[in-house]
Amino acid sequence: MKHQELLTQMTLEEKAAILSGKTVWQTREVERLGIPAIFLSDGPHGIRKQAGTGDHLGLNASLPATCFPTAATIANSWNEELGEEIGRALGEEAASQRVNVLLGPGLNIKRSPLCGRNFEYFSEDPYLAGKMAASYIRGIQSQGIYACPKHFAVNSQELRRMAMNAVIDERTLREIYLTGFEIAVKEGNARSIMTSYNEINGVYANENKHLLHDILRKEWGFDGFVVTDWGASNDHAKGIAAGSNLEMPAPGLDSARELLKAIDEGNLTVGELDRCVDELLDAVLTLNKNMEGKPKYFNEKAHHDLARKAALESAVLLKNEDKILPLRSKTKVAIVGDFAVRPRYQGAGSSMVNPTFVESIEKVADQYDLQVIGVNEGYRRSGEKDEAMKKATLDLVINAEVVLYFFGLDEISESEGLDRTHMRIPQNQIELLEAIVQVNPNVVGIISAGSSVEMPWHYSLKAILHGYLNGQAGAGAILDILTGKVNPSGRLNETYPVKHEDTPAFRHYPSTERNSEYRESIFVGYRYYDTSKVRVQYPFGYGLSYTTFDYSDLEINEKEVKFTLTNSGTADGAEVAQLYVGLPNGKVFRPAKELKGFKKVFLRACESIRISIPFDDKTFRYWNVKTNQWEIEGGEYELMVGACVADIRLVGTIHRDGTTDDFPYSKKQMPLYYSGLIQKVEDGEFACLLGYSPASGKWSGDLDINDAICQMYYAKSPVARMIYNRLTAMKKKSEDRGKPDLNILFIYNMPFRAIAKMTGGAVSMDMVRGMVKVVNGHFFKGIKQIVAGYFTNSRLNRAYEKKLKGK
Ligand code: BGC
Repeated sequence: MKHQELLTQMTLEEKAAILSGKTVWQTREVERLGIPAIFLSDGPHGIRKQAGTGDHLGLNASLPATCFPTAATIANSWNEELGEEIGRALGEEAASQRVNVLLGPGLNIKRSPLCGRNFEYFSEDPYLAGKMAASYIRGIQSQGIYACPKHFAVNSQELRRMAMNAVIDERTLREIYLTGFEIAVKEGNARSIMTSYNEINGVYANENKHLLHDILRKEWGFDGFVVTDWGASNDHAKGIAAGSNLEMPAPGLDSARELLKAIDEGNLTVGELDRCVDELLDAVLTLNKNMEGKPKYFNEKAHHDLARKAALESAVLLKNEDKILPLRSKTKVAIVGDFAVRPRYQGAGSSMVNPTFVESIEKVADQYDLQVIGVNEGYRRSGEKDEAMKKATLDLVINAEVVLYFFGLDEISESEGLDRTHMRIPQNQIELLEAIVQVNPNVVGIISAGSSVEMPWHYSLKAILHGYLNGQAGAGAILDILTGKVNPSGRLNETYPVKHEDTPAFRHYPSTERNSEYRESIFVGYRYYDTSKVRVQYPFGYGLSYTTFDYSDLEINEKEVKFTLTNSGTADGAEVAQLYVGLPNGKVFRPAKELKGFKKVFLRACESIRISIPFDDKTFRYWNVKTNQWEIEGGEYELMVGACVADIRLVGTIHRDGTTDDFPYSKKQMPLYYSGLIQKVEDGEFACLLGYSPASGKWSGDLDINDAICQMYYAKSPVARMIYNRLTAMKKKSEDRGKPDLNILFIYNMPFRAIAKMTGGAVSMDMVRGMVKVVNGHFFKGIKQIVAGYFTNSRLNRAYEKKLKGK
């Protein structure tokens, strides 16, 4: 072990205690031995260090920091260098605020557009997500700070996120949900990683040996430390045995006692505990050393400018009829929409940054060569109709040459702890748009939303510029693009389906019971739409430019594809060339196309460049569930180069020899998987995919400590049902107000055990068991256990504290 000398000096109590947090954000120090603490903070697109009272949901104010565009936005840039630059800035800001570990980036796969946290994640495609995450990680870690990619793994829904079991086959797990993390670990060299709340095939991510030991540490060679999501620890001893290191936030000393008990009872060895402490010590000592001499400030202006550059590269031009954009000099514009005045530039929850400065369209518009004839909020963000506002807007737009209409999703639609129930933009915004078009057809729509939306109204708009959630400097970036100062170069990181019903997991998302069945398998996002020929609104990888690009002269050799890219238009601009691979009529079912490489290049008008996209270990592989390893199927592969998944410009083939003849599936038994039409996979075919029939996962009987608070709906105790009703009413009230109440959402979705894990030692697991007895109708038995547990817990806490102080 690396820190054997320190380990020898530490008592068993100290070792057990150091493996869980002391406060919401800090680990425990061991003063006697000079072992310091480390500070962990969100988040993915800006530092959220709470200087005062800590809470993990972003409720209390944090120190000002640059709010960069969210991951979903930056993923549209397809620019790894940009990701690294943002990472460096994040690392620098973290260091200036004495944050050692930055809790991000988030790279869960966008299984369904409804997931409330999609705005925090990069893509529906693991290759793009992994490459972008790795670039952030390299940047962050270049500053001596550890990045912490999250949430490992298969954390695709917010509803009951802590009481949810992902039922998924090994191939889908590997190819879709783990490949991004694999790239983040191997190419980004992530030094820490956060386990997710959910179970995977019946085992909590944080206790999952297959995930943490076999795959993460053994296969990928990860040698950093693993931290739980806040409150994600179920059984700390099982977590440690599986390869996790640190339980967060502050469970008090109950979790440490669990470890000592597990050692006493032979369920955990001292060797396992030591290994785990050693890995954490390594991080603690390295991180503290790295922090020495770091400046306590950062260049706010330079980072604001970087946030703008990032927003510029990430906005996606979806439509541009009659070349209405870029706007000509001195165009008479009417600016309409609440979002132009109060921008939505980030989502709600633990990722929420307190920005150093926020631009709004209203405030920066006069810096451009436009004649702004008026700015009008137009509609109420809360969704209520307002005829007076509508009339004022129509009176304004009638006199404009072009109307700039700012609209999008409201706060409640994109939040941690809450999934959307539909993909629509609030109706009052659309009604106003339709009324505007009646008096002035020259409308350019600018969307603020961190994930995909239905666009039945797209006909009404001449142009659509999608800004996503573009950070504190987003407004200037949007105007730079609208006026042609900058040529748009963002390409969609996700598909825009025509309607929610078309999405691959439509029938199974979100799960209504504990089990969430991943029946769509590997057919996530474009892998489904493209293979099954389902018409979409805007395909994966899509985005327009003010110029055009030609692809020519494809050359394929053993190592790469090469081709020439020419800017054939009149404006300078950047293109994202994408490489997709397919194997028509393969023995193993697979998507028609899979992204295997990309390159973003800037070209002056008329300029050409020869591009090479090299193959890597992922280009031809698939996970074979029979041989239980990555294999290559022999055959003639199609290599497709294009501007998006639906716009392939060059096609060639290459032969690959197979690595095995042991194929796992039968076409006869799995017709839907072989056709890609996976929306209606029935039990039998899903069982073939899994290799077993999954248990129903339907809840029955008494509630237990791992059931979610919102399941008190089933409680036998009338008091518990009353509490459930009260919570539900409070949740609804906040939804109606349009502002997520994160506290309520967290409590609603959390399991009973989290009461012990999140209360800094005030409540023990034994007391929680008592509470659950009360909920199940055993009032007196439960109360007795709570009271007795309270006294025992206080006594044991005091005794443990004494030992830690060496008394
Ligand atoms: C979120 C994490 C976050 C943590 C700390 C959790 O609720 O899922 O993404 O890092 O809180 O704020």
